[in-house]
Order: sequence, then structure tokens, then C-alpha cells
Amino acid sequence: MTVKKICCIGAGYVGGPTMAVIAKQCPGIQVTVVDLNEARIAAWNDQDVNKIPVYEPGLSEVVSEARGRNLFFSTDVDKAIDEADMIFISVNTPTKTYGAGKGQAADLKWIELCARQIARVSKSDKIVVEKSTLPVRTASTLKDILQHTGNGVKFQILSNPEFLAEGTAVEDLLSPDRVLIGGDQNEGGRKAIEALVEIYAHWVPRERILTTNVWSSELSKLTANAFLAQRVSSINALSELCEHTEADINEVARAIGTDSRIGSKFLKASVGFGGSCFQKDILNLVYIARSYGLTQVADYWEQVIIMNDHQKKRFANKIIKTLYNTVNGKKIAFLGWAFKKDTNDTRESAAIYVADHLLYEQAHIGVYDPKVPAQQVYIDLDYLATRSSDENSQLVQVYNDPYEACKDAHAVAILTEWDEFKQYDWQRIYDNMLKPAHIFDGRNILDKAKLENIGFKVCPIGS
Ligand code: UDX
Ligand code: UDX
Repeated sequence: MTVKKICCIGAGYVGGPTMAVIAKQCPGIQVTVVDLNEARIAAWNDQDVNKIPVYEPGLSEVVSEARGRNLFFSTDVDKAIDEADMIFISVNTPTKTYGAGKGQAADLKWIELCARQIARVSKSDKIVVEKSTLPVRTASTLKDILQHTGNGVKFQILSNPEFLAEGTAVEDLLSPDRVLIGGDQNEGGRKAIEALVEIYAHWVPRERILTTNVWSSELSKLTANAFLAQRVSSINALSELCEHTEADINEVARAIGTDSRIGSKFLKASVGFGGSCFQKDILNLVYIARSYGLTQVADYWEQVIIMNDHQKKRFANKIIKTLYNTVNGKKIAFLGWAFKKDTNDTRESAAIYVADHLLYEQAHIGVYDPKVPAQQVYIDLDYLATRSSDENSQLVQVYNDPYEACKDAHAVAILTEWDEFKQYDWQRIYDNMLKPAHIFDGRNILDKAKLENIGFKVCPIGS
């Protein structure tokens, strides 16, 4: 079977870039991305491609090449489903905030709604692809719903998890380490797998396209994220030990990273990992393990989250302790709010939690982030519901200029590793700060010796 029309439900950080790249690489396939959110679709259709709702290096160029040719963004979900041979489900699967599994399990409400809509609308056989990260065995729910429509339409369910990282999405999509496709191990399943393999094979070498059964594919996605997050928590755990022993975490990371069995990536100590995936996926893994009664397995992975929460809190406490045990009324400048550089995404960003902790101590915070708008900073803080939104707007000010953000501050805290922070005129920043002027480098990106020469008191992570 050759796919001619693709529909993707969900025009978010995953659906948008993934479909844009498929459309770019497969000009013969019509790709329609649909979303319930009208504003989001309007933004994807903005005449000015720089105004698309997801900031990713290189993405505007890809969108401007394919949009209107074979890439379309629409709110007409039914029509796109009806026309498609293959439907990607790329809606969000947040952690449940209510009921059983609250705070841990993935909320599959949207996934089920999508399945029901597909079942209702479809008049011809279709391949349904799980793109969203889902708990292992979700495909059986989808199958159940899709197989009981009673209208004779046949569905194949594939799992095709996304491994792109934000900030490098386009690069990751254009040359992935691997593409993973899971499907049923029978004739129908194998044909569906082959149809999806053919799409990726337009630009990905065949040996990098791995095929498995559905359950292995679903579980591999959770496992990959859990392993990556575990490395960050492991190095962060040791960063605290370094601060007590005169060892330097950067040197330790370099020393162990040259062991080819360990490898050098994901060993950067930080203020803590963020992003929409790591925490959510591990909580999910923990929940699944517990639901099978596997207490030790669940406890083992939960520790990765506990360590990460500890690292964020520890960073905030260090600021308070260093500023003579009180930050009440003191201005602390935050450079960075996004969960990592080169993205405007702030979901689960460490900055939010560090700020919340400092605000609890009545600090004043001045935020500058090159890509995050002021409104988002307030949305993130209000979402925690720790204090009223009025209080958040009184205590937090967002600036468009980093020098203004740092002016009259007692301390500067680096929360995101944006490259531009390294190029700043730090003498100018120092001159306009209160003394002693402190820097808390939550990403270890600044030149400590140079800053100390200027007169700063510098507190990196892990040394
Ligand atoms: C993705 C994955 O899908 C998720 O499972 C993964 O773990 C994180 O990344 P992401 O693209 O980042 O999600 O989410 P988001 O940016 O919130 O986009 C999801 C989109 O789906 C939203 O625009 C939302 O409006 C849309 N949606 C949601 C629908 O169109 N229909 C629905 O029923 C639900
Ligand atoms: C992650 C996975 O990498 C990706 O494969 C998956 O599809 C989605 O989840 P993402 O969350 O976009 O991607 O970013 P990632 O680069 O993995 O960083 C996650 C967090 O860990 C960030 O807050 C980052 O700053 C932090 N991190 C990463 C560290 O603190 N130290 C490191 O060495 C690496």
C-alpha cells in the first residue's frame, strides 16, 4: 500500500515539525495537520512564516517550502481524517490531575477522543499511527475502539514514537539516529509497517529504520527518555557531592565521558531537567510498574524525579543561603526561562520552580529570556497556584533587555544555557548591580575566572 494522503491530529511541538519535515521530504504526499485550537492553526498559516507557533531553528524555512504545496494546516478535522490513508495521533498526553493515577499516569482522554472521532468519520481502511508518547499497551485501547465501529472499515495501529529534542527538532528529523516503528506481527500489520517505512525511506537509510512489535515500540520510547533523564539526575547527584569535596563536576563528567561505554552526552550538570517529556514519561513508567506490583522497579525510576526536584530546590536554597539567609525584597535577575536553549517552550522548566521557591521567600525576580514572552512567564507561575496572580505580577517583572533585567539586582541566576549569555558585557552588568554582586550559574556556561576578576562572587553547579 502506498500512502498518498496523511492527516496528523495535533499541531503542537511534535506534530507540527514532524509533519513539516515529512511534507518537505515527500512532495508527492499530501500532509494535513489539524488541531482543535483555532488560534494555533491560524498561527501555522500566518503569512509571515516567522510567526508560526513553534520556534525551532530551520523550521520556518521548511514550512515556507512545503506549505500550500503539500503541507496544510486546518481545523476541519473530520475532512482530513476522511481523506487520509494514514492518520498520526500527536495530541498531548499530560499527567493526570484528577482521579486514579493523579500526578503519575498519563491522561489518555484526548487519545480516546481522537480514536472515537476516527471511528465515527472513516469510510475507508486506514493506518493509525501513535506519535504521542503513550503508556505501553495503549494500542490495545485504540484497537478496541476502532474495531467496534460496525461499519466494516479496517484499521491497523502502529506505534512510531518521536525522538526529536526541542531546539534541534529539524536536524533530528532530517537525520535521525533511528526511526522506530512497531506494529502487529501478522500480514496486515507487516503491510502497514512497510507503508510507513516507505515514507521515512524517502530520506532515512533503511538500516536506521527499526521495526518491532507494538509493545516494544511503546515501551522503548518511555525507556529512552527514562535513561536520558537518569543520566542527568546521576550527574546532578554527584554535583552535590563535588560541592563538598573539592572535586569539580565538569572534570568528573569529562573523565567518565571519555569511556566509550559511558559516552559524553547528557552528562552536563544543571539546575535540573525540564521539558514536557522526561518527568511525565518517568511518572508514567513508575505508575505502570506499580500497577503490575513491581515496587522495586517503580521506586528505582521514581528516584530520578526525586533527585531532580532536589536539585531545583537546592539551587534556590543556595541562592537564599548565600544572600545572607534572606532574599526578602531583594531583586534576583533570572537569565533564561525556557527549559533549554533554542526553544520558546517552558513546560516543566526548572526556572519556574526555582522562581516559585524564591517568591515564597518574598524575593523580587526580574526575568529575561530571548524567546519567552512575558505573558508565558506569568501563565507558568499562576498555573502553580502557590499565590495569587496579582502577587505574581507584583513580585516578578519581565524585561526585553538583559541589562535592564540585571540592573540593581543582588544576584544573577542563569537558568537556561542560551549562547548569547556568554557574550554579554559582564563588566557593564556588574557596574549596575548591588554589591557584593553574585552569580549563580545553573548551567555552568560562564567563565568563572573572568567573572571573579571583574569582582563577581560566582557559584557554579558542582564545584
Ligand atoms: C507531544 C506528544 O504528543 C506528547 O505525547 C509528548 O509526550 C510530548 O509531545 P506536543 O506536541 O508537545 O505533544 O504537545 P502540544 O504542543 O500540547 O500539542 C498538542 C496539540 O494537540 C495541541 O495543539 C492541542 O490543541 C491539540 N489537540 C489536543 C487536538 O487537536 N485535539 C485533541 O483532542 C487534543
Ligand atoms: C527529550 C528527548 O531528548 C527526546 O529524544 C524526546 O523525544 C523528548 O524528550 P527534550 O525534552 O526536547 O527531548 O530535550 P533534551 O535535550 O532531552 O533536554 C531535556 C532536559 O534535560 C532539558 O531541561 C535540558 O536542559 C536537560 N539536560 C540535558 C541537562 O540538564 N543536562 C544534560 O546533559 C542534558
